[in-house]
Amino acid sequence: MCGIVGFIGTKNAKEVLLNGLEKLEYRGYDSAGIALKSQDSVLVAKEKGRIADLREEVPADAFGEIGIGHTRWATHGKPSHANAHPHQSKSGRYTIVHNGVIENYSLLTDEYLADVGFASDTDTEVIVLLIELFASQGLTTKQAFTKTLSLLHGSYAICLIDNQDNETLYAAKNKSPLLIGTGKDFNVIASDAMAVIRETNQFIEIMDEEIVIVKRDGVTIETLDGEEVTREAYTATLDASDIEKGTYPHYMLKETDEQPAVIRKIIQAYQNEEGEITVDGTIVNEVLASDRIHIVACGTSYHAGLVGKNLIEKLAQIPVEVHVSSEFGYNMPLLSEKPLFIFITQSGETADSRQVLVKVKEMGYRSLTITNVPGSTLDREADHTMHLHAGPEIAVASTKAYTAQIAALSILATVVGRAKGLETAKQFDLAVELGIVANAMETLVDSKEIIEHIAGEYLATTRNAFFLGRHIDYFVAMEAALKLKEISYIQAEGFASGELKHGTIALIEEGTPVLALITQESINWNIRGNVKEVLARGANACILAMEGVNQPGDQFVIPKVHELLTPLASVVPCQLLAYYAALHRGCDVDKPRNLAKSVTVE
Ligand code: F6R
Repeated sequence: MCGIVGFIGTKNAKEVLLNGLEKLEYRGYDSAGIALKSQDSVLVAKEKGRIADLREEVPADAFGEIGIGHTRWATHGKPSHANAHPHQSKSGRYTIVHNGVIENYSLLTDEYLADVGFASDTDTEVIVLLIELFASQGLTTKQAFTKTLSLLHGSYAICLIDNQDNETLYAAKNKSPLLIGTGKDFNVIASDAMAVIRETNQFIEIMDEEIVIVKRDGVTIETLDGEEVTREAYTATLDASDIEKGTYPHYMLKETDEQPAVIRKIIQAYQNEEGEITVDGTIVNEVLASDRIHIVACGTSYHAGLVGKNLIEKLAQIPVEVHVSSEFGYNMPLLSEKPLFIFITQSGETADSRQVLVKVKEMGYRSLTITNVPGSTLDREADHTMHLHAGPEIAVASTKAYTAQIAALSILATVVGRAKGLETAKQFDLAVELGIVANAMETLVDSKEIIEHIAGEYLATTRNAFFLGRHIDYFVAMEAALKLKEISYIQAEGFASGELKHGTIALIEEGTPVLALITQESINWNIRGNVKEVLARGANACILAMEGVNQPGDQFVIPKVHELLTPLASVVPCQLLAYYAALHRGCDVDKPRNLAKSVTVE
């Protein structure tokens, strides 16, 4: 979603901002802009479309030692030049970029700015106009900014330039992520460390409702009440090469290929010196103390949660409910006495999930976040965290984070099951089984040619597609359909195959692609019966079956892995099918339309 970069130093900020915005492209955006402050003026360049278009827009000799940049994912007002950030106050004194949503912007407009014309349709503009209004009433910039912040309801990460001040950049946040990167004779601001990792690996976290005064040689953090806050910088472990594509045409392909290595890395990260899989004892005790687990997540992470429920219930024998975050927050189920909330989130920043975390914390319940991003908001705010160790996931379509989430959940389930003395968990040699998964994944990512061929035959020109599954294959079918939808724009549905005849089979017509996933012995013949039913109605059916349950004539065979871990293998051909279907249809795989990687608004 929207991204921010800011710089103050002794060199030209232009390239820092443009390079930083390029690194934030993966988050999803539809317009971008920068502002560069020289001695006495501020140059603003902005453009609908890509950073490459913005680069054309910025004059070659543009210069400023202070600058702010932004990628915008439209919420209030369509993607356009006028709505792109930065936005300026009427006199041009103040320039800001903003991520988030100001919920009370129309109330603030009515109360303070009724006579002031707006240059855009954005909620952001109200912020910069208020700052100018309060400054014109005699407040200093810091006071005007603080007063404005105290009036805002909603989420924000803001960077502010005052054209009358050559020494300062201001920043603040509430709910939306923002970090300060520190260096010698310069400081940077970014919504994601990745954007500025070339400049520094030293970062200071900003907390909600703090204001930050950033100079070339220092950073001052204050609460909105003016109390100074001391906070040490931490070293980001991110490696600049982790965020490069290398020789891959797309991040999605690179990240799909990385999955065997990620699984091996997770095994290592959760193994003790004796080679046993372990999880922090406080987390295990927390799970043992709970009488019901609620997994809360969105999108692909929600699909991983569904697989996690199966793992936890089978291996640890604790009842689990899985919830879509955006629903859970507003329609809570009846809770038991000692529920534990597990938030699954690749980015650790998803606003829908965070609002649930905030709510359950207020209610006094315990929480665990499973995330790929150390230091992210949900990482910091939950009682406990398990990290995924998957390395940065840049492609909008999540691949390696999904498999890493399932692997992490299998680790948690097994360790808790063993702590309870359960035989199934004790006899489950997880490290070995995950090793087998990693090998199977390697075979699968090496099968690109055949998967590309299947994608061409079944998905290249279709309007719609169905993925069928039963048992845990149904959860993977849902993930397969989501992957296909988001990057190829084919209307796809993941379906419990037994449910087809209760209505949906009406959609099957001559040539409709139906892809069936079969990995479980117990449902092999039922789902093959459902495939016959759709074939009889003209469907173009394709079976992806696991070794052991496969039959002659199946279009694709998935190498065998343990029956509890089959999603880790069966999802890989589905990810690749989506990838190649998108390529066949000429879609921009890494930047699908309308989507954002990190969804920081509710
Ligand atoms: C799909 C995808 C999304 C995310 C969802 C939650 O490929 O990536 O569905 O899974 O937006 O994001 P996180 O996991 O960051 O909370």
